Amino acid sequence: MFHDALGISEFDFSNVTFANPAQVDAYYDEVDRRLAPTNRRWYFLVIYTGCVITPEAWERFAARGKAANIAYSLGTVRVGAAAQTREAIRQHAGRAMFRANIFETRDQALFAIGEMRKRQEVLGAVSTESFLKVENIHLSFGGVRSLIGVGFHVNRGEISSIIGPNGAGKSSMLNVINGVYHPQIGSVTFMGTPRQHIEPHQAAVQGIARTFQNIALFKGMTVLDNIMTGRNLMMKTNFLQQALYLGPAKREELEHRRKVEQIIDFLEINAIRKTPVGRLPYGLQKRVELGRALAAEPILLLLDEPMAGMNVEEKGDMARFVLDANDEWGTTIILIEHDMGVVMDMSNHVVVLDHGEKIAEGTPDEVKADPVVIRAYLGEG
Ligand SMILES: Nc1ncnc2c1ncn2[C@@H]1O[C@H](COP(=O)(O)OP(=O)(O)O)[C@@H](O)[C@H]1O
Ligand SMILES: [Mg+2]
Repeated sequence: MFHDALGISEFDFSNVTFANPAQVDAYYDEVDRRLAPTNRRWYFLVIYTGCVITPEAWERFAARGKAANIAYSLGTVRVGAAAQTREAIRQHAGRAMFRANIFETRDQALFAIGEMRKRQEVLGAVSTESFLKVENIHLSFGGVRSLIGVGFHVNRGEISSIIGPNGAGKSSMLNVINGVYHPQIGSVTFMGTPRQHIEPHQAAVQGIARTFQNIALFKGMTVLDNIMTGRNLMMKTNFLQQALYLGPAKREELEHRRKVEQIIDFLEINAIRKTPVGRLPYGLQKRVELGRALAAEPILLLLDEPMAGMNVEEKGDMARFVLDANDEWGTTIILIEHDMGVVMDMSNHVVVLDHGEKIAEGTPDEVKADPVVIRAYLGEG
């Protein structure tokens, strides 16, 4: 059911039983048939009251639901999930705590959609398609050509991945997008505004945050303080006011704390909030770095190998956090990652670089089947 004016697509699973994968497919095939022609994204309101999903149906239910979210959702809220449904989702997500926007009442859920909408409205009239356009980027360092005529588009609300062997130019591409590198030729258009030359802090002000291939945190500072540094750009009151602790500064400080607490909770790192980052294992440092980036409330989040060096379990956690951030806040994400399973599972769109050139792009399935990619890259492993 569509509520056009609100941009909400409601899924009423009330008293529906999904007994097997075929029933799930029948339902979601119909969802595809109805949503694809609308050519737009919706807030999903899913009503679970009295809904039964049997163990045989669960895996398919989770997979099809996720695919629908990726294809058509601006954000998803869920109402009335029974205890055992929650439990099943939790087990499926493989996480100790499932927080994927489950609400007791429809009103609470609608309020949450209102909050999501406020975030999206920050983006104004920017259409999904013209969110980020990178065109014909040429970047070289002396004689080294690191990007050669690379261009691609990123749609708002999607997860795009850049893959390719070491030295392909992946990190360089992120550095071009957030103003660390200035290409000799080519243009980047972010939210409808083309820009020739931009510095990293300007990119940050525009809502672009990133994490780095080599963790860039203050090792001696606590987790809490590191994440707080992600708020720096948003601190309006000046330092003198803060030192004097005047009214507005105090209020602002509290607001920053609240946001940081929300992220600490979101990333499940409450137990280590006071620990100096340098003492944490690598996987947790990566998570803190994600937290710092999220603290800036980015519109576009650039993640440079966020799962490198992690074990399977840590990777799974990180993937969930990234997917949740995308789901909960509608954050558009560009991900560099070597683990093909992770990339293919998480991405809407994949760009393949090799020796500074784009050799392919498309959906994960298209890229996987592309003979050029198989020869140049996937075939290696
Ligand atoms: N600051 C720099 N100075 C000189 N060469 C660089 C610099 N940054 C990247 N390069 C070169 O650009 C090429 C692509 O590097 P990079 O973007 O880091 O690849 P990837 O992230 O895909 O492994 C490499 O040959 C690298 O040495
Ligand atoms: Mg790199």
